[in-house]
Amino acid sequence: MELRLRAPLDMHLHLRDGEMLRSVAPLSARDFAGGLIMPNLVPPVTTGEMVREYRASIEEAIGEEKFRPYMTLFFQEEYSYDFLKEVREEILAIKLYPAGITTNSEGGIADLSVERLAPVLEAMSALGIPLSVHGETDGFVMDREAQFIPIYEKLALRFPDLTIIMEHITTKEAVEALFRHENLYATITLHHLSITLDDLAGGLLRPHLFCKPIAKRPEDRTALRKMAFLGHEKVMFGSDSAPHPREKKEASHCAAGVFTAPVALPALAQLFEGAGVLENLQKFVSDNARRIYGITPPDKEVLLVKEKWRVPESYGGVVPMFAGEELEWRVESAL
Ligand code: DOR
Ligand code: ZN
Repeated sequence: MELRLRAPLDMHLHLRDGEMLRSVAPLSARDFAGGLIMPNLVPPVTTGEMVREYRASIEEAIGEEKFRPYMTLFFQEEYSYDFLKEVREEILAIKLYPAGITTNSEGGIADLSVERLAPVLEAMSALGIPLSVHGETDGFVMDREAQFIPIYEKLALRFPDLTIIMEHITTKEAVEALFRHENLYATITLHHLSITLDDLAGGLLRPHLFCKPIAKRPEDRTALRKMAFLGHEKVMFGSDSAPHPREKKEASHCAAGVFTAPVALPALAQLFEGAGVLENLQKFVSDNARRIYGITPPDKEVLLVKEKWRVPESYGGVVPMFAGEELEWRVESAL
């Protein structure tokens, strides 16, 4: 059995920089036609020059592969209309991080009141730049996403022409919010479709499944699966593949992030096939993102075959999801 995917896209991807970038970028570039590249480097990507430099280093790391890095800026209150107009052509979205909420987000936004954000959001709305959001408060860890939903709703109402992406949603409350506002969309990760908190912490602790937002309850996963399996037009695939060196994961104060880039398409095919909806995977991994973001990725057809393979224990010192386990689908080629 085989499956052909046209221009699969990963609309939430951490590629890092330096040696880590050179090691992980080829894995995404092999399987995907493009990805939305997160800006939480140290220091974060906040200027046109930084965007151009980062894009150039990504392109160098991926070599000849057909893969378009869709760049983002790290949201800053100081961005002016003129600055955003100038940088418009270089980026696809601006990513907003609440200050200190996740990896390398210390320079994020401390005061999320609509009034404080309004000048930048007005400019983005006028220029047609989508807003991508890490939507968590600093409340109790299981409630952080649900507590953030009123903020999403205020933004959606106040800026009806602004496309707002609720990144890596994990709860049924987030799914419900999507239906209340025309301009809200969401990415869903492979890991949140696959696991619940039980897989992470219900038995022996599995640090490689620890991420932000943390995996939630079975009923939350069911709500996410329902949307993804329908290929619902409000949702698209964003892996949030977030590589950290093994020693940062297998540690006291384990870093947050699940590294899924090299297993994403095979594992998604397995999930969708298991649910009897393989034909909807194309929408989830490409068509919806094209429409939501209005992009035309490079022509690339990725061929998956139903053939077992064993996921490596590590890729250059980073442990992937499903390490050492067998997956049923394999990426055969990309043209
Ligand atoms: O688990 C996560 N890891 N969540 C994030 O929001 C950031 C990411 C990272 O950059 O490591
Ligand atoms: Zn992320």
